[in-house]
Amino acid sequence: MSLTRTDISARILAGRQPDIADSFEAYAPVNIALCKYWGKRNAVLNLPVNDSLSISLGNKGTTTRLTRLPGAEKDKVFLNGKPVDGESAFCRKVVAHIDLFRPLGSGALRVETRNDVATGAGLASSASGFAALTKALVGLYGLTLSNEELSIIARLGSGSASRSIYSGFAHWHRGVRPDGMDSFASSLDVIWPELRVGVLTLAESEKPTGSREGMQRTVDSAILYNSWPEQADRDIRRLEHAITVRDFTLLGSTAEQNAMAMHATMLASWPPLLYWQPESVEVLQKVWQVRQDGVQVFATMDAGPNVKVLFESNSEPEMRSVFQSMDVIAPFS
Ligand code: ADP
Ligand code: DP6
Ligand code: CO
Repeated sequence: MSLTRTDISARILAGRQPDIADSFEAYAPVNIALCKYWGKRNAVLNLPVNDSLSISLGNKGTTTRLTRLPGAEKDKVFLNGKPVDGESAFCRKVVAHIDLFRPLGSGALRVETRNDVATGAGLASSASGFAALTKALVGLYGLTLSNEELSIIARLGSGSASRSIYSGFAHWHRGVRPDGMDSFASSLDVIWPELRVGVLTLAESEKPTGSREGMQRTVDSAILYNSWPEQADRDIRRLEHAITVRDFTLLGSTAEQNAMAMHATMLASWPPLLYWQPESVEVLQKVWQVRQDGVQVFATMDAGPNVKVLFESNSEPEMRSVFQSMDVIAPFS
């Protein structure tokens, strides 16, 4: 018999005594994967095929406030100040996540959530969104959960959210158990103050194919996907080594190659998946040119047209002059 999401949350929440507040607000950062999560072995529990490793973007993320609505029958959801249609996929996913905690007795809730990044544009809003919602639910119910437990519950909302529980570097271990109780992220506990992430937002519109559908299509149709687990295993090992010895060139080149390999599997899917826009290619070519000119800069892209670049603080003045519209984040400041 296959396990449901509720089976997993019930196991984590079993025996806890809630102390429910009227309202609670929580924040979680977005994260950018340096080794990507792409493909699930279990789509109900968001269990991944491969390990992934990310960096969280400090003060760019999601803030979610939950308020009890005594007497109301249904949750009310607001995104960036605007009411969300109760029938929309957005609302249904939020309600389904709250349902994991509902047996503890909150009744209906008002959900006010704000994203600092565009929603559904490849800037990891699902990661910060479900990590913030999980933290807000745990806070509203007055519970104390370990980071691993928070990571597992956030993962049930969106896989990448398992990593947004942490600031800094996070490693999501794919785990091997069918119930996914060993599939959670942990913090790398490393500080790299000179590291910079530049976000080049080229388009803010919602992507036509969400990450969820995109990765399923790749797994189902791309023969090239067969090589992806090996790519990810190698890159995770390289990244962990790069972080341990502070080898920025190894970190950046591994992240860029990993992203390109993931996009190659997308392109090899049917129907083909191409999240890039002409402007994405222009930016990538500019990054490669600047690198050839001697600046240590590397690019990564997720399921969307926007490009993120990795560099160190000594290259910041040059990078700012080349990419004037770039948002620069110092993840460890
Ligand atoms: P992204 O690249 O932004 O992560 P995805 O396709 O992975 O794009 O996910 C977009 C989905 O994430 C939205 O349709 C919604 O279901 C969910 N999401 C985004 N922001 C939030 C939020 N603040 N709270 C809850 N869910 C959110
Ligand atoms: C390309 O976590 O958004 O950003 O688990 O179905 O919600 P679901 O997908 P999601 O996928 C993220 C894909 C990625 C790579 C990554 O963040 O690791
Ligand atoms: Co996402």
